[in-house]
Amino acid sequence: MSLINDLQWRHAVKAYDPTKKVSKENIDKIVEAARLAPTSSGLQPFRVIVVENQQLKEKMTANALNPDCMRECSHVIIFAAWNRYTAERIDRVYDFTTEERGLPQGRFVNYTNKLKSIYLDQPEEANFVHTARQTYLALGLALAQAAELKVDTTPVEGFDNKVIDEVLGLNELGLKSVSLMYVGYADNTRDWLGAMKKVRTPKDEFLVEFK
Ligand SMILES: Cc1cc2nc3c(=O)[nH]c(=O)nc-3n(C[C@H](O)[C@H](O)[C@H](O)COP(=O)(O)O)c2cc1C
Repeated sequence: MSLINDLQWRHAVKAYDPTKKVSKENIDKIVEAARLAPTSSGLQPFRVIVVENQQLKEKMTANALNPDCMRECSHVIIFAAWNRYTAERIDRVYDFTTEERGLPQGRFVNYTNKLKSIYLDQPEEANFVHTARQTYLALGLALAQAAELKVDTTPVEGFDNKVIDEVLGLNELGLKSVSLMYVGYADNTRDWLGAMKKVRTPKDEFLVEFK
């Protein structure tokens, strides 16, 4: 099956079958797709958190737009971005890359100095706008990988960030939640969107070409 077919197949599921669990193997592949996402300067300034624990899921439903979805899906994946850039965080990524590639230490020092001069002078909120943005390609690739596996998903911003951050102790990790992805298998009797046509902006309107 082609990527386009997978993307046509998937939809944002509105009700999950609580009796159906996604295998560890498939969850691992979905996380791996997110891990392989490109990010600005390769910093991967976010982490992916997988919650299967039902009590934690229950706590995370507070103020969520569709709490039943969160409750009944198999796993909730949280995309949580660095609260801010730090010299240590930047150095850690580049020291690791240098080592993994067998390059001389300091190979990227001019570049990391440049990154530090851009990011470390910014207010924390500006840093977070940038780190949060980096999560969306990972979310997209995770959605696509799940579709290839015929695993149902919902990308979600309709949740209370404060609740998620508190329940998962993200502040202590220097992280802030950005988006969620519900993962599971749809309950076709309640998932009202499943039978509906996929609708997108027509191509002639969506695409702007300069020839
Ligand atoms: C970043 C993002 C946030 C979203 N948040 C929600 C959400 O909170 N609840 C929900 O039911 N759907 C949510 N959606 C799903 C969109 O409504 C859905 O993807 C869009 O209408 C297109 O439909 P499709 O995914 O079924 O093709 C979100 C999608 C994205 C990409």
